[in-house]
Amino acid sequence: MLASVLNVTYLVGAVALVLGLRGMSSPDTARRGNLWAAAGIGIAIATSLIYPFEGAEHNNYGWIAGALILGSIFGWLAAMRVKMTAMPQMVSIFNGLGGACAVLLAVIELQQAGAATGAAQLSVLMLTLLIGGVAFSGSILAYLKLDGKVWDSQVTLPYHGAVNLVLLLATVGFGVYLTTTGNIPTGLLIGLLVLTLVYGFSFVAPIGGADMPVVISLLNSFTGLSAATAGIVYGNQIMLVGGILVGASGTILTILMCRAMNRSLLNVIIGNFGGGGAASGGADGDQVVKTVNPSDLAIQLFYAKSVVIIPGYGLAVAQAQKTCKELDDLLSANGVDVVYAIHPVAGRMPGHMNVLLAEADVPYPKLLDLDAANDTLAGADVVLIIGANDVVNPDAENDPASPLYGMPVLKAWTAKQTVVLKRSMSPGYAGVQNPLFFLENNKMLFGDAKASLQELVGEVKNL
Ligand code: TAP
Repeated sequence: MLASVLNVTYLVGAVALVLGLRGMSSPDTARRGNLWAAAGIGIAIATSLIYPFEGAEHNNYGWIAGALILGSIFGWLAAMRVKMTAMPQMVSIFNGLGGACAVLLAVIELQQAGAATGAAQLSVLMLTLLIGGVAFSGSILAYLKLDGKVWDSQVTLPYHGAVNLVLLLATVGFGVYLTTTGNIPTGLLIGLLVLTLVYGFSFVAPIGGADMPVVISLLNSFTGLSAATAGIVYGNQIMLVGGILVGASGTILTILMCRAMNRSLLNVIIGNFGGGGAASGGADGDQVVKTVNPSDLAIQLFYAKSVVIIPGYGLAVAQAQKTCKELDDLLSANGVDVVYAIHPVAGRMPGHMNVLLAEADVPYPKLLDLDAANDTLAGADVVLIIGANDVVNPDAENDPASPLYGMPVLKAWTAKQTVVLKRSMSPGYAGVQNPLFFLENNKMLFGDAKASLQELVGEVKNL
C-alpha cells in the first residue's frame, strides 16, 4: 500500500519536472518553470527518504540530514553569489557533482556485486560508472577552463584526437572485460575508475573556448544518462524519469547549438574552434575605423524611425541591460520603433540575451529571432551593436577561411548605419577580427557598454 502511494508521489514529482521544463522554454514563464522543477525535485527527495527504507532497518537519517543541509547551504550561496557571466562555470561544476554521484552509486553497487548479480545489472552499473565518470572529470576541466584557471595549451597534447581514441577504446574495452568476468576485484575497479576519469579529462582538454557551452550541454546529457541508468539499478522511477529528461534536453540543446553555429558535433569535439588565438582573417590591421561621440549618436537615434539593438556578450559583462532598456524607453517615447535582434549563440550560454533582457523587463515581443531580425535589419535606420562581435561578422558569409564561415549571422551591415559599442578593437570569442567595423556605414563608440549607454541616455534626455 505504502509503495503504491509513494509511486504516485514520484509520478507527481515527475509531472512537476516536466511542467518545469516546459515553463523554462519561454522567458515569461521561466521563473515559474524553475519553481515547478524545484518542487518536483523536492517531492522526489522527500519520497526517496521514505521509499527505499520501507520495512527495512535504517539509521542513516543523520547522515542524510547533514548532507541535505550542507548541500542546500552550498547551492543557495553559490546561486546567490554567481555573476550572470559566470553561469556556465556554475552549471559545469554542478553537473560534475551529478556525475560524481552516479559514479559513487555505481562503485558501491559494483563492489557489492557478487556471483548472483546478473549480466544485465552489471552492464547497467558499468554504464553508470563510465558515463558518470566522463561527465564528472570532463565537467571539472570545463569549469577550470571557463574560469581561466587552466588554458587549452596546458592540457592539449600533440595528436590529441588519436590519444582520445586510444583512451576511449581502452576504457570501454576494460569495462566490457570486467563486466564479462562477473566478479570485480576492488583493485581492478579502481583501475577502471581512474581510466574513466582520465578519459573524461582528456575528452574535454582539446576543445576550444567558444565551444565550451556546447561541451557542457553534452556533458549535461551524459550526467542525465548516468542518473537514468542509476535509476534502472535501483528501480527508482524518479531517477529514471529525471535522468531521461536531463539526458534528452541536454542532447536537444547540444544539437540546437551546433545547428546555430552551423557545425557538426564532431567538428566541435575535434575542431578546436575559438581557442583564443590571435586576431586574424577578414580585415586588415592597418584599416581605420570611424568613431562617433555620444551626443551626435543621441541625435541620430532620437530622430530615427527604426532602431535595432543587437546585444552580445559585452552587454552581459558590462551589466548594461537596464541602461539599455532606459535608452529604449526614451527613444520609444519619441516614436522610434526599437526592437532587439537576438542571435541564438550571442553571449556565452543558451538564451543568455533573453535572460538578460527579461531581467531588464524588455517586453518579449520586441525580441526578434535570427530570421525575423535579418528581415528587419535590412534598411533599418540605425543598428546599435552592444558588446556583440562574432554574431555580426560578415566573414561568416564571405570568407571560407574564417573559422566562423557557415555560421548564420545577424546581417547588421544591410542597415543604413551601424554603431558598435565596445571597449577596443579586440576580437570576440572566436579570436578573429570583424570586417564590419571598417565598413563605410559603421561607426565605433569605444568604452564600457554601460558607461557609453549612460552617456547616451543623458544626451537623449537633453534633446
Ligand atoms: P563575442 O564575439 O564574444 O564578442 C563580445 C565583444 O564584447 C568583444 O569583442 C568585447 O570587445 C566586447 N566587450 C567585452 N566586455 C565589454 C564591455 N564591458 N563593454 C563593451 N563591450 C565589451 O560575443 P557575441 O557576438 O555575443 O558572440 C558569442 C560567441 O560565443 C560566438 O563566437 C559564439 O559562437 C560563442 N558561443 C556562444 C554560445 C552560446 S550558447 N551563447 C555557445 C557556444 C559558443 P572589447 O574587449 O573590445 O570590449
